[in-house]
Amino acid sequence: MKLIKSLTVSLTLILAGFVHADEFDKDDLDRWTQQFNDVAAEGRRLWTSPELGSNGVTCAQCHPNSANTHMETYPKFQKQIGRVSMMWEMINWCIRNPLEGMPLDADDPEMIAIHAYLAKERSGVAIAPGKH
Ligand code: HEC
Repeated sequence: MKLIKSLTVSLTLILAGFVHADEFDKDDLDRWTQQFNDVAAEGRRLWTSPELGSNGVTCAQCHPNSANTHMETYPKFQKQIGRVSMMWEMINWCIRNPLEGMPLDADDPEMIAIHAYLAKERSGVAIAPGKH
């Protein structure tokens, strides 16, 4: 019993050490913010580029400056898909249809970049899943 107790105490101290080791400083925060901003900037670049499709059309033509994308409303029922969907599924719907392109995997760096850009544009807007 005493052994178990001392093992528990040791384990707690080890775990506390891990928590301590997970601290971060201002340099880390600056680096992470910079990485986010770089990825969002890549999303912005893709937004205005025809490279996601095959017919020269860009996202920005119908959604200038990310207009009418409403990332804070996902997941929600989406008519085009016929069920509750994630925003990446609507991004793929637009890549497939207006842009006549190949859909991206949810974790494709280009998909993540588009998400980062659309999320950044809605910074500060209250999340409202399911809203129309
Ligand atoms: C020819 C016009 C057109 C182009 C180009 C276009 N879209 Fe769309 N987009 C639409 C339409 C129409 C809808 C459906 C509107 C709705 O149901 O709210 C839509 C909906 C969306 C939505 C969901 C909006 C919401 O309110 O939930 C997202 C996200 C989106 N598009 C992303 C993109 C991306 C990314 C691209 C470029 C790859 C793109 N769109 C290109 C017309 C376009």
